[in-house]
Amino acid sequence: MIGTSDGFSLHSGWFDRGAQHALAQEILERVARSPLYQPTMPRTGKPLSVKMTNLGPLGWMTDKQGGYRYQSRHPVTDEPWPDIPETLIALWDAVSGWPDPPQACLVNWYGPDARMGLHVDADEDAKSAPVVSVSLGDAARFRLGGPTRKGPTRSMRLNSGDVVVLGGESRRFHHGVDRIYAGSSTLLPPDWRPGRINLTLRRVRQSF
Ligand code: SIN
Ligand code: FE2
Repeated sequence: MIGTSDGFSLHSGWFDRGAQHALAQEILERVARSPLYQPTMPRTGKPLSVKMTNLGPLGWMTDKQGGYRYQSRHPVTDEPWPDIPETLIALWDAVSGWPDPPQACLVNWYGPDARMGLHVDADEDAKSAPVVSVSLGDAARFRLGGPTRKGPTRSMRLNSGDVVVLGGESRRFHHGVDRIYAGSSTLLPPDWRPGRINLTLRRVRQSF
């Protein structure tokens, strides 16, 4: 585990190959019911390069009309999001140090050319609860900055099975994904290769 005084930690290889496989199956079974959709930027309507869906009582959304927000239903099917698998609740309990369970699990799908620009996760009321993220499939170069957009950044490779915790001060740090190492993993089924799944667990509301 690489931990730093600012509350950031990288747990390399938290999930072994068997656990990654089982988790990927649980995720893909839910994605089949709650399909990936194309998020778009507020105002401009420009598509993000990642595709998304969610698990849990609340899901993070963005589109031209509504902007960044949480909502309880899938924007296309209008169904409630599927449940968060127990494995991820157990992960949250093990690494978050937060007493309340996560309310949202954003599922990000990165094709070989997808990336995510530097941003801060800022749409949650529970701003002190950590963000816990899991990588499955192809590796990525993750970039972590600081509280300001212009400050220094560091980059690290996230492999399948790695877990990142943005806690403490780092909860408000800029972060993003520079690139995907297409073809670096054979974990996901052929239809999902090359590509990467990132799961982000978040507490959204302060209390129920
Ligand atoms: C995110 O910040 O939402 C995603 C991070 C990642 O894909 O590792
Ligand atoms: Fe983020």
